[in-house]
Amino acid sequence: MAQEQIILRWIETGRLRSRHHAAFAAILDDEERARARHFRFKEDEIMFTAAHALARCTLSEIDGRPPHSWTFRIGPYGKPAVVVAQDAPEIRFNLSHTKGLTIVAVAIGRDIGVDVEKITHPAPLEIADRYFTRQECDLLLRSAGRRRDAAFFSIWTLKEAYMKALSRGMDLPLDSFVVDLDPAHLARSDQDKTWERWQFWQDRIGASHIAALAVDWPDADALPISGRAVDPNELSSLCGAT
Ligand SMILES: CC(C)(COP(=O)(O)OP(=O)(O)OC[C@H]1O[C@@H](n2cnc3c(N)ncnc32)[C@H](O)[C@@H]1OP(=O)(O)O)[C@@H](O)C(=O)NCCC(=O)NCCS
Repeated sequence: MAQEQIILRWIETGRLRSRHHAAFAAILDDEERARARHFRFKEDEIMFTAAHALARCTLSEIDGRPPHSWTFRIGPYGKPAVVVAQDAPEIRFNLSHTKGLTIVAVAIGRDIGVDVEKITHPAPLEIADRYFTRQECDLLLRSAGRRRDAAFFSIWTLKEAYMKALSRGMDLPLDSFVVDLDPAHLARSDQDKTWERWQFWQDRIGASHIAALAVDWPDADALPISGRAVDPNELSSLCGAT
């Protein structure tokens, strides 16, 4: 078991085909399958199914259990968590999807959050005032043109990853913490006395997406991230398709 690793796996959902769907759906539980069926468009159903299959297969990479055997409970703010035996290491995960990409992060005993956004359109800079702190808005103003768009998406995904790592989602006031760039880090967090233990990672995935990760990882200079893309055919075979 990879105790001291953060596993990051992503899948380009534009490459999914309906033939993959049955293999992915076969390893989900009844609740996940029911949620998948609620999507109006088949494309969204396939993406959801792929995201949850990828989460299960990534969890299995760290533990070796079969992907279908994972069970989950939903936390008070909606974050899914793995149900583990009392004496087993606590495996934590988070996932994010956006058009074209789904990403999953898994670690043992560390709170973790991940976010991905598509960056092929101009950033909605006009909403920065509503979502970002004064310091984060100043960061934006220090860059111009496409660099400002890039800074917007960096700040957005980092804030989202941190909110998701803490599990609280929208319950966490957006002005209660500040992210900074170059390198990406948490500059302050009012509701978290030990905020300095948090580390961020951020990178482009292909030409169209940016991903961010926040993890409670106080004891390392560089995060031991093992990250790679998973091909839809590979995911199918991990799900047991022949
Ligand atoms: C769910 C939430 C945490 C993220 O939503 P989102 O950005 O639309 O969605 P993502 O694709 O990144 O993540 C969704 C996944 O996060 C997980 N999730 C759900 N609630 C969560 C929570 N409270 N904390 C962490 N993860 C959560 C789920 O696995 C979900 O996937 P699923 O529905 O397939 O099971 C949302 O409630 C939220 O709070 N969004 C904040 C939006 C915002 O204002 N951001 C401003 C940033 S500056």
